[in-house]
Amino acid sequence: MKTQVAFKIRTAAPEDCRLLWEWANDPAVRAGAFSSDPIPWERHLDWFKGKQADPNCTLYILMDGQGHPLGQVRFDRQPDGSAETDISIARDYRGRGMGTQALGLACESFRESGKARRIVAFIKPENLASIRIFERAGFSNRGKKWVSQQEAVFMNLDLEDQGTKVQAEMMQVILDALRGLKDDMGQELRIEVSPATVLYGTGSDLDSLALIQLLIDVEKRISERYGPAVTLTDEKVLTREDSPLHTVSSLAQYLATWVMRPT
Ligand SMILES: CC(C)(COP(=O)(O)OP(=O)(O)OC[C@H]1O[C@@H](n2cnc3c(N)ncnc32)[C@H](O)[C@@H]1OP(=O)(O)O)[C@@H](O)C(=O)NCCC(=O)NCCS
Repeated sequence: MKTQVAFKIRTAAPEDCRLLWEWANDPAVRAGAFSSDPIPWERHLDWFKGKQADPNCTLYILMDGQGHPLGQVRFDRQPDGSAETDISIARDYRGRGMGTQALGLACESFRESGKARRIVAFIKPENLASIRIFERAGFSNRGKKWVSQQEAVFMNLDLEDQGTKVQAEMMQVILDALRGLKDDMGQELRIEVSPATVLYGTGSDLDSLALIQLLIDVEKRISERYGPAVTLTDEKVLTREDSPLHTVSSLAQYLATWVMRPT
């Protein structure tokens, strides 16, 4: 069953060292890696210290709304301007749609940092769940490559691609509208302004009036920029089971598809 979670994201801190070691030694994680031997604690400690000090490494911890860690996504910037990524979701949370949501959110946060032009991943061909979540996050399959003498599926997300850019613009529109709503409502509205903010459904802090006010503002901002307005307050959009209004991030994706639709 898919679980919609109000994800939070933060960069890894020294106290995450042991948890990351436990996750790294999970059998499915080792099986998915190109070097599958178990990782001794001392080696992990050196690796983690190195990554923490490395300006080319961005290591995110994904958490649920209560701050409970669910998984990690790492980006290692390469000399060619790309960033290589790695993801794992804690064993008990796999297969519920969390990898898909977590990867989308992490890529979005990383894109905003402006640290790379594209994100790439090398995945073992038999790791179908991983290939699937990268496809769903907008990566394209660029065929086979060799990694440590093993075949790998090469996935690529071009951050300068038009679709990615439009989605980023949509994200800014929604975040600006959300900031405006917070200014209007003051103390009444305790909500984070972030791509992970839940707007609608389980875990949302917006009541229906605030949501409608936000959506009307988003519609207005988009029609000012793109002409004829998208209608978000339509019942068909609001009541869809997989409503695109769930988070700021999913709404940005929906709006980008709308803006780029063939007319
Ligand atoms: C890969 C991983 C991050 C995916 O996270 P997750 O939370 O399980 O993923 P989701 O539940 O969001 O999505 C999995 C998708 O793969 C599909 N899937 C899972 N197993 C599959 C299989 N054997 N064949 C085909 N599709 C499969 C699911 O149906 C789902 O697709 P859908 O949403 O279209 O139905 C997680 O399994 C993991 O941590 N694995 C170990 C580490 C790893 O392999 N990391 C990747 C290294 S490149």
